[in-house]
Amino acid sequence: MPLLKIYTYPEKVLSQKAEKIQNIDGALQSLIDNMIHTMYEAPGIGLAANQVGVLKRIFVVDISSKEQSYPLLVLLNPEIVFCDNPEDSEEGCLSLPGCTVKVKRPMDIVVRGVDREGKPTEITASGLLSRAIQHEMDHLDGIVLFDRVSSIKREFLRKRYLKKMNQKD
Ligand code: NI
Repeated sequence: MPLLKIYTYPEKVLSQKAEKIQNIDGALQSLIDNMIHTMYEAPGIGLAANQVGVLKRIFVVDISSKEQSYPLLVLLNPEIVFCDNPEDSEEGCLSLPGCTVKVKRPMDIVVRGVDREGKPTEITASGLLSRAIQHEMDHLDGIVLFDRVSSIKREFLRKRYLKKMNQKD
């Protein structure tokens, strides 16, 4: 199974809004399989289609750790219908290697969407799962972690990140 290229900031696709999925076909199923494979190989706990250069509203999440396993979540056209209990925590992102950003997000959410078979699904999530889902949904709206902080902090984080990326090349 091919590993997909993970786009990193400041590549344009990460700041673009993904489009709603209308057709679930074989090409989409392959994309989903490849995204799952790429997420596990990275390794990461979530991956949105924008991060592999595809502007479609789909993400995969698996917050399993060595200590505990959770089900893999594949969600298309997600929408948050309830949120509560905001909390600050550090987040990382496969598209921002070597960088963590403190973000405040609601820790209790209900999200609706459709699964990979096209069946309507509603998920109640809390804690890390809630955070991971919202992080991936941000990607679908063209929002990266840097967009979630004040403009002063954003400039500082952005400059530091770009300097580090340029040193690598
Ligand atoms: Ni991310």
